[in-house]
Amino acid sequence: MAENTSRRDFLKHTALVGAGLLSAPAFGLESRQQNPTFQNKYNFYGEHQAGIVTPAQKHIYFLVLELDTHDVSKIKALFKTWTEYSRNLTTGKNVKPYGSNPYLPPADTGEADSLNTHDLTLTFGVSQSFFQKLGIEKHKPAELNDLPHFPRDQLQADYTGGDICIQACADDPQVAFHAVRNLVRVARGEVKMKWSQMGFNSFLNNDTPRNLFGFKDGTANADSLKEQEKVVWVQDGWLKGGSYLAVRRVKMFLETWDRTHLQSQEETFGRHRDSGAALGHKHEFDKLDLEKKDEKGNPVMPEISHTHLAHKSGVKMLRRSFSYSSGIDDKGQFDSGLLFISFQQSPEQFIKIQNRLGNIDKMNEYITHIGSGLFACFAGVKDENDYLGKALFELI
Ligand code: HEM
Repeated sequence: MAENTSRRDFLKHTALVGAGLLSAPAFGLESRQQNPTFQNKYNFYGEHQAGIVTPAQKHIYFLVLELDTHDVSKIKALFKTWTEYSRNLTTGKNVKPYGSNPYLPPADTGEADSLNTHDLTLTFGVSQSFFQKLGIEKHKPAELNDLPHFPRDQLQADYTGGDICIQACADDPQVAFHAVRNLVRVARGEVKMKWSQMGFNSFLNNDTPRNLFGFKDGTANADSLKEQEKVVWVQDGWLKGGSYLAVRRVKMFLETWDRTHLQSQEETFGRHRDSGAALGHKHEFDKLDLEKKDEKGNPVMPEISHTHLAHKSGVKMLRRSFSYSSGIDDKGQFDSGLLFISFQQSPEQFIKIQNRLGNIDKMNEYITHIGSGLFACFAGVKDENDYLGKALFELI
């Protein structure tokens, strides 16, 4: 009897909601409010997209998508929706306010409700195949091609290629995942997921984070940031104010590394593990002197060390990498490594350095590159009248 009553009430309620007569059902959802505690250090609007020169947060969810349509107008509309959603997400709101009809799926998936922004940034890029598939090759920047094959590459299809990338970074993993999940949810029919990687970065205060080999990783970025106009940002064409993102999923053989003695570890990077100072130098941020010799006349930083080789290339980039650990591989070892991400004004910067590291980098004994991608990240969204990729879509 009680069951029948409640069922009757339920049906009555449904009818009223369906007719739009009940606006706030008893089991409605409160939308995520913007309140003072939901501030984000990083502005969504700006000349450049956030998440590039933004200091790396503690978590990343990096997703690569494939187009599921050849209709450029649909993709243009999608980027407009993504702009609106991203603005909402990065300011601590739901992608859309919740509606009042309890018989529809909620407008937002909800796992970030009651969480703040955790300084979420969302960064979008497109690859050369994006232009091909949409038949807009004539607008493809000449430099935007697949990365060439590098010595020792062992790329796997599961972590390579794709047309669009979304880099979500936040100081909370669930906030980053929630953002990506909702961006994909609204895009089903236009895009399919190709590959993704979660990653983490741990550090105290403003310390340089350490990678899974225990070394400080990102020291040289301070210099790249000082010259960011030249190192990071594209200066002309529709991509002006944007940047090229190179991503590599680099597997690190932690078990082998952990059997390597400290001196050899330090010679691999050409830096001290503890302080991050270059060998023969005192402090982490000392200017590197590659010519410096020890008392026997040998270079204090081995010529095949990672830092020596990368620095000697004479080229700079902004690295924004995250460690990953994705379970155990088929050999019973950690499936762990570095989701290497770098931003540069031209892909040539990445190509030149990676070729220099080539076969000779001492670090090669401990790593294998298994995933790869190159994406052109749009300029920033300037204001409410702007949207992601507008400079490109307006040409079409
Ligand atoms: C698992 C892969 C890698 C690890 C663990 C790693 C680690 C490191 C470490 C510990 C340093 C020294 C501190 C610093 O300046 O950050 C460094 C420097 C650097 N690495 Fe890597 N790295 C990796 C891959 C790469 C790749 C793929 C590139 C580019 C193709 C690259 C480019 C650089 C550059 C440009 C520097 C700075 C050199 C300078 O002092 O001017 N690294 N890396």
